[in-house]
Amino acid sequence: SDESFIAYAAAAPNLALIKYWGKRDSRLVLPLNNSISVTLDDQLMRTVTMATASPEFAEDFVELNGKPVEVTDRMRAVLQSLRQRCQRGQDLASWKVRVATRNSFPTAAGLASSSSGLCAFAVAVARLADTLRWLSTVARLGSGSACRSLFAGFAEWSAGQRPDGVDSTASQLASAGHWDLRVLVCVVGAGAKSAPSTQAMARTVATSSLLPARLSCLPDRLAAVREAVAGRDFASLAEMSMRDSNCLHAVCADTYPPVHYLTDASRAIIDFVHRLNEASGRVVLGYTADAGPNVCLLAQPADVHLAAGCLQRAFDIGQVVGDLGEAADNSKVPSDWAGDGSGGEGATARHRIESLLICRLGRGALDIPQAEAAAWFD
Ligand code: PMV
Repeated sequence: SDESFIAYAAAAPNLALIKYWGKRDSRLVLPLNNSISVTLDDQLMRTVTMATASPEFAEDFVELNGKPVEVTDRMRAVLQSLRQRCQRGQDLASWKVRVATRNSFPTAAGLASSSSGLCAFAVAVARLADTLRWLSTVARLGSGSACRSLFAGFAEWSAGQRPDGVDSTASQLASAGHWDLRVLVCVVGAGAKSAPSTQAMARTVATSSLLPARLSCLPDRLAAVREAVAGRDFASLAEMSMRDSNCLHAVCADTYPPVHYLTDASRAIIDFVHRLNEASGRVVLGYTADAGPNVCLLAQPADVHLAAGCLQRAFDIGQVVGDLGEAADNSKVPSDWAGDGSGGEGATARHRIESLLICRLGRGALDIPQAEAAAWFD
């Protein structure tokens, strides 16, 4: 009908280098600690969302990749918060909304689809309501990590201190152009069905005695990451990311009953990175893993080719997607190095990596024009 509005948005997932784990307020989605992430490349991975509002819709409706999905309390919180702020002259605030969302990557593969999905959701509905103010707060209501996908490159989400959460917002630390980092996403496929992050982190807060230790060492770690980003210090950034990922999964193991996200394949990748770095005499790769079995590797562009080659020797890799780059003369790794600790190819069973996605850092959801998102949607 004439009386309807339509808006589009796109967002890429972000990868936390310092993880958000644990809320101080679950209704407002306020975290216990600051987190720092990189926004991945929207050309390779993205969620595209179309939001429509019309007086003819009987109820709010959400679909994902063509199938209706439950309108969760979090999604309702996003819609409600934007209705309250609606800047349009119409009665749009009382109209129902239809949101259609498409992921360019497997939703269930644990590729941070909640960060891109709920970010694109918030931006599309905010464009509908013609109010882009407070977007950080609104995206956060959908999924904590979503507020970081608003920004390109490096983003930090401040925990804030206020009970109403108005100071718990994300901002950009550095642009994607500041530092040409690469992320090699190792999709190891579904392990046992992982615990949803919301339930798992609530259980950690309630039961883990290691969580306070994690929180007390985070201020120094966050400062080290900010400094590493500012000074483009790869060895430091990689080490901080690896330590924080290990710390997160240790806290998950200390949760009662425990939460396990990593599989044998994930751990094999982590051990591989340490062996490669040791054999190379420098930090070639870093790693980090979220609430799932996939492991993301951090690399400098000149090392991507070397890293992918070594991965191919040590793992059974299904497909490689993205730019491998040139072979650079930077390898001190012996040519017969297998990376599995055995010293020879095929000596032990090789773990499977379903796909290896080689990503640059990308744009924030706020940088992706509506017209581009609309063109992607069809
Ligand atoms: O945004 P959520 O509720 O899906 O939680 C994300 C939690 C981690 O991915 C494990 C860490 C993070 O900071 O993204």
